[in-house]
Amino acid sequence: MEKITFCKSWSFLKTFTRNHSSKEWLLRQKTDPYVEKAKIKSYRCRSAFKLLQMDDRFSILKPGQCVIDIGAAPGSWSQVAASRINSNATNSEIPTGLLIGIDLQQMYPIKGVTLLGNSDFTSPKTWHKIKELLNGRPIDVVLSDMAPNASGVKHLDHDLIIKLAYSVVKFAVLNSNVGATCLIKILDGNQNAEFEKTLMKFYSNVKFVKPEASRSDSAEKYLLARGFKGLKQRNDVAKVQTESIPCNVTSMTFFDRLLDPNNGIVSCSGSGDDNNHAIHQCMEVFKDGMYISNKLKMMLFEDECEEYFLYSEDERSEFMFRLLQHFSIGGQWCQDDVVIEPYLNAMKYVYKDLLA
Ligand SMILES: C[S@@+](CC[C@H](N)C(=O)[O-])C[C@H]1O[C@@H](n2cnc3c(N)ncnc32)[C@H](O)[C@@H]1O
Repeated sequence: MEKITFCKSWSFLKTFTRNHSSKEWLLRQKTDPYVEKAKIKSYRCRSAFKLLQMDDRFSILKPGQCVIDIGAAPGSWSQVAASRINSNATNSEIPTGLLIGIDLQQMYPIKGVTLLGNSDFTSPKTWHKIKELLNGRPIDVVLSDMAPNASGVKHLDHDLIIKLAYSVVKFAVLNSNVGATCLIKILDGNQNAEFEKTLMKFYSNVKFVKPEASRSDSAEKYLLARGFKGLKQRNDVAKVQTESIPCNVTSMTFFDRLLDPNNGIVSCSGSGDDNNHAIHQCMEVFKDGMYISNKLKMMLFEDECEEYFLYSEDERSEFMFRLLQHFSIGGQWCQDDVVIEPYLNAMKYVYKDLLA
């Protein structure tokens, strides 16, 4: 028998200690039909009904799909998704899906779900773990019910959830199948229109949805983005032109500037072996129809950005610079990387081999 936790017990404690409105909360829980229904159906949380209602209305989840559930704890969305995509293999006559659930909190196991607990979705490490689990399989549906701990200050909570939502879109865009869907929770606020516009660049159909199970006095709503358009491939070479490039300006100090957090390309996280340099992300830059996902690409490509001038024109015509440009823009594998070390290590190897 699966152990069940109810997500509101923690918010009960918070409510009780912070604002003494526990009576109100208890009354609402008692009279909330979804709380009772969740218990009857063994869902870990009343939130299950939000996803059930949105899925019943928009047919988001289908057997055999590859789905990630971000902000999954305590697990009711994962319970719903596992059954709808058949990742729990309860029906042998329909395709079996793949479901990965991620949360800052630890979660009790759910049949048919690979759970990454204790994992911050915004950290590069978590992205790497998810991608290892995906093993090259593109995602069909990204679900995010992720929400920061509520501070009670409306605009602050809004800013925090929008930041989380941007990281969800970025991950979705880099790892989804063409035609894929993304469902993201947000809170009412002044950045919603801009965020909706960003989604519209990548998805052909975007709309706000408020399921009946979402309390009417709550600022929460969902953005449902369907029909992922795909990213333009940039490695279909039509013609190769050779040119001899001098190599006398660049030295190994070339890398120091890239790794210096003061130069705006990366920030340093971790220590010792975990000392990775996360590349700063930028969500909305397109140049010549190409999506430029981070500051490293901006530096190489966009002469209107500040970081472009980190290297002089002489250095720009150097062999090593071209190499970096090729790895970061032309190469297929590097579009997804969120840390800079793989680019630099590969470059150093090639460069050393060529000079040897
Ligand atoms: C509303 S709850 C999700 C409920 C869940 N959909 C369910 O049905 O059981 C929001 C969750 O987002 C998680 N969360 C917030 N920030 C996160 C982050 N940076 N990375 C991963 N999870 C996060 C919280 O820990 C919390 O469990």
